Amino acid sequence: PRFWAVIPAAGVGSRMQADRPKQYLPLAGETVIQHTLGVFLRHPAVAGVAVAISAGDPYFHRLGITAHKPLRVVDGGAERCHSVLNALRGLAELAHPQDWVLVHDAARPCLSDRDLETLMQTLRDDPVGGILATPVRDTKKRATPDGRIAATVDRSQLWRAFTPQMFRLDPLRQALERALAQGFLVTDEASAMEYAGLAPRLVEGSAENIKITRPEDLPLAEFYLARRRA
Ligand code: C5P
Repeated sequence: PRFWAVIPAAGVGSRMQADRPKQYLPLAGETVIQHTLGVFLRHPAVAGVAVAISAGDPYFHRLGITAHKPLRVVDGGAERCHSVLNALRGLAELAHPQDWVLVHDAARPCLSDRDLETLMQTLRDDPVGGILATPVRDTKKRATPDGRIAATVDRSQLWRAFTPQMFRLDPLRQALERALAQGFLVTDEASAMEYAGLAPRLVEGSAENIKITRPEDLPLAEFYLARRRA
């Protein structure tokens, strides 16, 4: 099967309190998004990449990213799921409807080549697809509105959902369109597939695959990337 990547990069990143969206902040000699894109551009089985950026985004084109495979740039939307949908529609001219698509946040620059490979190999013959994830480590509490503990949640069944999330192009596009049309809150691709009655597979990956969200995440990402180069 063929694989494509979709990179939603149209967020504003307000929690970073920075002068530009977090995907364009400097990280280990490049920008966040260049690290993220690099993982997919260098993987030999990824046929091409679609990136969703904000309309009028002045940053992406200034990076001068060159690629040895198709790199399609599309407009993002109001929410992450709209950005993903636009990118999937942009891929429709290049890809087969049953090709695999790896949807990966621009803000997760620490995805390792090895985790990407594990995900692709584990799911390549799967009937549904799935996501990289990691079991929760801490004890989980359910809170009351006034900040007291209502219950301790059984963590043995809880996982943290990461990206990439890997599904076939047309089934994913249809699941997202249907979920959005019916007003379902789509927080990731898997949730749209679940809404369609499917059970995506959880593939365990490294907890280093963090999403850059707050200022303290950048030095942590820098550390992970530097340690791999050492
Ligand atoms: O805001 P958050 O960290 O959850 O965003 C996850 C990813 O989705 C980021 O890479 C961000 O750029 C992207 N995004 C998008 N379009 C939006 C909102 C977020 O592509 N409307």
